[in-house]
Amino acid sequence: MTVIQDTQLQDTQGTGLADNYGRVATDLRVSLTDRCNLRCTYCMPEEGLDWLAKPELLTDDEVVRLVTVAVTQLGVHEIRFTGGEPLLRRGLVDIVARTTALAPRPEVSLTTNGIGLARQAQALKDAGLDRVNVSLDTVDPDTFKRLTRRDRMKDVLAGLTAAQEAGLTPVKVNAVLMRGLNEAEAPQLLEFCLEHGYELRFIEQMPLDAQHGWDRATMVTADEILAQLTDRFHLTPDDASKRGSAPAESFLVDGGPQTVGIIASVTRPFCGDCDRVRLTADGQVRDCLFARTESDLRTALRAGADDAELADRWRRAMRGKLPGHGINDPSFLQPSRPMSAIGG
Ligand code: 5AD
Ligand code: SF4
Repeated sequence: MTVIQDTQLQDTQGTGLADNYGRVATDLRVSLTDRCNLRCTYCMPEEGLDWLAKPELLTDDEVVRLVTVAVTQLGVHEIRFTGGEPLLRRGLVDIVARTTALAPRPEVSLTTNGIGLARQAQALKDAGLDRVNVSLDTVDPDTFKRLTRRDRMKDVLAGLTAAQEAGLTPVKVNAVLMRGLNEAEAPQLLEFCLEHGYELRFIEQMPLDAQHGWDRATMVTADEILAQLTDRFHLTPDDASKRGSAPAESFLVDGGPQTVGIIASVTRPFCGDCDRVRLTADGQVRDCLFARTESDLRTALRAGADDAELADRWRRAMRGKLPGHGINDPSFLQPSRPMSAIGG
């Protein structure tokens, strides 16, 4: 048996966000609000959800404080702001500016549904934002309306154009295919993205909806998406060495240089390479999208904890990270917090 020396233990404790399976989180996803102006069927019920109350939400200063701890003490070098819909957060531009001013400067991106992006893209670019991921599941306005329960496709398309023009590139598009809604739209989506120079990634639907309506039997799988695409395009695996911890499996389209990605969280899990950690809008650390426990940083923060204590709590929070999400185990239980309150 190897005896771990105290000094060694201290060493690992004094560094980054390591878990017990050899993974180190360097990519932080920060949810800025659980609210949203769409009602995507795979995410939320028509009537919305019980939103977090204002006093529970981290203030802009509190968000920046925790992001600063992550970047300056814990080796996090990538920050992605998410929601709900992060463009609904009034202080977003300021939060982005303060994040990109940190040293070492992290890479900063935004995952958004694109509504209102046309108005904010340039200000976000000026604040230092590097890139955006825009969710767009269909290029048919009627299907968009049925899938998101709002007639807003035009706003999303305008947001995409504005992001491209502002240089928030490469502009990435996330698409989820839903049986009976947009299940056969993979080729049309890819055509649209190729035409505009957006990088498309399909995400397998995950059991993270508030209504618990996910059903493995009806889920559109990565294999099915690939079959649809190869009917129309010639796909070749992109250089696998570039993938690293990226969840998307990438393919060159018709010889490249443009690519299409597939994030097969369910049928081809990639938990072994995960380098992500999440912070909810109410200041809870989640070591996984599917975690069933969270670690409260907000209480310590508001009680006056210094940076070293916050960093220490955060490190300890990572030790319980499980080796995998277990979606494919019979005993899998969906987390109680839905995707909209965790952030993608
Ligand atoms: N399964 C897969 N993707 C989802 N998203 C939201 N809910 C789900 C789900 N249950 C997507 C959004 C967005 C990204 C953050 O995650 O469409 O693009
Ligand atoms: Fe809003 Fe995103 Fe959920 Fe759609 S998936 S309802 S855009 S939070």
